[in-house]
Amino acid sequence: MSRSTTSPNHVAIIMDGNGRWAQMRNRPRLIGHHAGAKRVKEIVEACPGLSVKYLTIFAFSTENWKRTQTEVAGLMKLFKRYLRREAQNLLNNGVRVRFIGDRTRLEPTLVDMMDNLELLTADNDLVHLTVALNYGGRDEVARAARRLAYDVQLGKLDPKSINDETFPKYLDTHVLPDPDLVIRTSGEARISNFLLWQSAYAEYEFIDTLWPDFTDEIFAEVVGRFGARERRFGAVVA
Ligand code: FPP
Repeated sequence: MSRSTTSPNHVAIIMDGNGRWAQMRNRPRLIGHHAGAKRVKEIVEACPGLSVKYLTIFAFSTENWKRTQTEVAGLMKLFKRYLRREAQNLLNNGVRVRFIGDRTRLEPTLVDMMDNLELLTADNDLVHLTVALNYGGRDEVARAARRLAYDVQLGKLDPKSINDETFPKYLDTHVLPDPDLVIRTSGEARISNFLLWQSAYAEYEFIDTLWPDFTDEIFAEVVGRFGARERRFGAVVA
């Protein structure tokens, strides 16, 4: 309810604009995604200095399969390369990595790498990086409802106990706090199916900068602005 003077504990980012960044340079879209991956590294590394404990990034949505086969395959290759190249660095930098989204449609080799990185970094606690991969907010809620229905069917859950505190235990994000700040780059002012349940009280920042140009300085500026915002969580300020 008060004016926040602290950093957002959890920042979630919709990293948009890689394609346009590449098109503006007459380069293939994948070049933009590669440039975007470099920013991911930079922004993760900026988190401890800005007291951002949780960072969640939207890497691939359930809708992104509709892109060309070349782009989808290129993105999957890029994710594998990033996980392979960055694993040791993330471990050494105190980053705990998690993935959210539906893994069933992802290649088994990629899923293995995701599982291994989660295990490898499980004891880290400096920054909690969550990568949303084949993630959609509606899909996540639907999968949660399915798991919950099974628990009811098995007699493990009393339907009377389902409420807004028990339901999120079935979401992919069940171990994470809700995001305080959601940033979308590239000038688009849409949520695009990202963390629908979790962002109910988040602050939003829509930034014109394309993701490959989103530097750690811009990140620091946006995080700093959050401190000046008044958060009421539905209440009236006295
Ligand atoms: C949106 O830009 C971006 C994506 C769909 C992919 C995000 C992926 C990265 C930033 C690559 C690195 C990620 C990790 C985790 C290593 P867009 O392609 O929709 O851009 P456009 O709107 O300009 O076409």
